[in-house]
Amino acid sequence: MELNRRTVIAGAAAVGLAATALGGTAQAAGRHPGDGRPVKELFGTLPDGTEVHRWLLANGGTRLKVLSYGGIVQSLEIPDRHGRYVNVSLGYDTLEPYLTGTTYFGALIGRYGNRIAKGRFTLDGTTYQVPVNDGDNSLHGGPEGFDTKVWDVEPFASGPDVGLHLYRTSPDGEMGFPGTLRVKVTYTLTRHGDWRIDYEATTDKATVVNLTNHTYFNLAGEGSGSIHDHELWLAARRYTPTDAGLIPTGELAKVAGTPFDFTRAKPIGRDIRTGHPQLVTAQGYDHNFVLDKGVTARPQHVVTLRDPHSGRTLKIATDQPGVQFYSGNFLDGTLVGTSGRTYRQGDGLALETQHFPDSPNQPSFPSTVLRPGRTYRTTTVHSFGV
Ligand code: BGC
Repeated sequence: MELNRRTVIAGAAAVGLAATALGGTAQAAGRHPGDGRPVKELFGTLPDGTEVHRWLLANGGTRLKVLSYGGIVQSLEIPDRHGRYVNVSLGYDTLEPYLTGTTYFGALIGRYGNRIAKGRFTLDGTTYQVPVNDGDNSLHGGPEGFDTKVWDVEPFASGPDVGLHLYRTSPDGEMGFPGTLRVKVTYTLTRHGDWRIDYEATTDKATVVNLTNHTYFNLAGEGSGSIHDHELWLAARRYTPTDAGLIPTGELAKVAGTPFDFTRAKPIGRDIRTGHPQLVTAQGYDHNFVLDKGVTARPQHVVTLRDPHSGRTLKIATDQPGVQFYSGNFLDGTLVGTSGRTYRQGDGLALETQHFPDSPNQPSFPSTVLRPGRTYRTTTVHSFGV
């Protein structure tokens, strides 16, 4: 199924939600749909007739809704200290805006998260071209990245965990990338209410891979206004400054003494208007933070985000070497979100655990090359609290 993300789909939004609970017992009295066993419902239909489903999952106090289109996290509900649930992820309530949008709300990103300079890289002596879709550069795997594809979804409920396996085979040459890439992404809700993502991929030719998820968080609830008062802690003493096209210059700059210092938690808005050239270029934070721990065998806690009003917290643990902190700079007030409210600049933020942008062109950055016979495997865990 190929789809140009800019195609406007007449009628897709008119498709109703026809709930088809799998297994029958999923909606037992007093339980949330998806509790104990994922529930599937129709969310919309693509122009070629492909149905897009929404899966409901609930476990350990967290409620997640995931689309087969783009592996999109369409809703993520967590309680505050009074047990009141709100959706803390930005998104839409119908399929159509996901098909035409360029914000990547909640999406699974591939083959290459963030930018590749001029969409070009050389691997083992061969130069490859990914179509550019962000000025001169390619962003998030090109114009028809993994966020625009319908994934095969297999639900599971094993022991105390519930979740979804998402499968897709990306053909050799898709969006210019070499190698047939077989991808499996698992979204798990644990009994503690953690949302865990496990990514796996194999290839039949040397290629580059950098998968991530692009959920925008607002711990006060999507559509509730700015995230500038959220407090952020990042275990990163360095970050990668960029040029005007948001491509890393190659320097690993120290955060100490700059607005980029989140090694002690501070409100995101505290220094965002300081006029630092890097903040002016990106219109806020849109930078890869170099995690002090580097690549690790197991996920380590590297991010804490806290909304001081509701008390909700998000902790992120990853095995990846970087996190792209994007402060929602390009939300411009033209998008109306899930609850019917407008998203303006800074109304949500993304914390994308991944390898550094443009690594295929930066020999000093940790490698994103995947070779036949090897398995790309990474894990990120989101834990919520009050
Ligand atoms: C990028 C931003 C981009 C955003 C949405 C982020 O990962 O760093 O520059 O605007 O994704 O596409």
